Amino acid sequence: MEFTTVGVIGAGVMGVGVAQNLAQTGHRVVLLDISDEVLDNARRELRDGLRAYTLFNRDAAVDPAAVFDRIDFSTDYELLAKADFVVENVTEDWDIKEAVYRRIDRIVRPEVVFAVNTSAISITRVGAVTDRPDRVVGMHFMNPVPMKPMVEVIQGYHTSAETIDTARRFLAGMGKDCIVVEDMPGFVSNRVLMLTINEAVFLVQDGVAAPADVDRIFKTCFGHKMGPLETADLIGLDTILKSVEVLYDSYNDDKYRPAPLLKKMVAAGVLGRKSGAGFHRYR
Ligand SMILES: NC(=O)c1ccc[n+]([C@@H]2O[C@H](COP(=O)([O-])OP(=O)(O)OC[C@H]3O[C@@H](n4cnc5c(N)ncnc54)[C@H](O)[C@@H]3O)[C@@H](O)[C@H]2O)c1
Repeated sequence: MEFTTVGVIGAGVMGVGVAQNLAQTGHRVVLLDISDEVLDNARRELRDGLRAYTLFNRDAAVDPAAVFDRIDFSTDYELLAKADFVVENVTEDWDIKEAVYRRIDRIVRPEVVFAVNTSAISITRVGAVTDRPDRVVGMHFMNPVPMKPMVEVIQGYHTSAETIDTARRFLAGMGKDCIVVEDMPGFVSNRVLMLTINEAVFLVQDGVAAPADVDRIFKTCFGHKMGPLETADLIGLDTILKSVEVLYDSYNDDKYRPAPLLKKMVAAGVLGRKSGAGFHRYR
């Protein structure tokens, strides 16, 4: 196998999904986060993720014990020295991502590709803090990762054609296809989606409709599987707010100003599914 061991940094919503998908497709995974407490939670989330996957894919032969066996849950960055590919999924915050890239650039072998999983941060900017900007590529995975067959791949200013090929092969090994787009904040998907979600929050804030009705209009009138506020709850309202803020800063355009209600909910710790409640209740 070309990518025997994969470093997955960040064991939140996305990191756990990426690790699960990789382990299910036979890769060894080093899953890194900052504390044992977060890693314990990641183990619980992985167990739930495997249960959900087998529920929706009854024909799939997934052995949960084998999946766990292929994943090293750790806080030790030095383990990345053996990685053949890295997927970074840390918090959507420039300062946090920058510190991670400066650190891993010194540990990971120079020929190894870094895939940035981000909602809106510039891949070119990430590449610039490393000594391998040609081997830094955006991989905007969809959530939940093991269920979604398509990935938006982003080519930064210096990302080489060879790296795009490597990214394609890597994703094929995860059972996924990709669509390659140019690097502009938010790429294609989130430039549209984040604006839609933010506007849906304004609708609730202005008392135009209740969250359930906003979502129902998208589902019943447009045939969407989920409404924008259900999607926001699934992604995490903190991630939505950070993404909208990145778009606002990047384009200097008022249309990306975050809705005050979104800021208020995040300040209150009401983050969507991961906290048990958002625009809808989950517990
Ligand atoms: N949630 C989604 O639906 C979604 C979809 C596509 C892309 N993304 C992007 O993926 C990335 C991760 O999002 P998420 O939803 O998993 O966020 P999350 O908040 O659930 O998880 C982020 C994790 O990063 C960890 N972390 C922070 N600093 C770290 C460090 N220095 N080293 C290691 N781990 C560290 C945190 O402890 C946390 O567990 C973000 O950039 C986000 O924009 C999210």
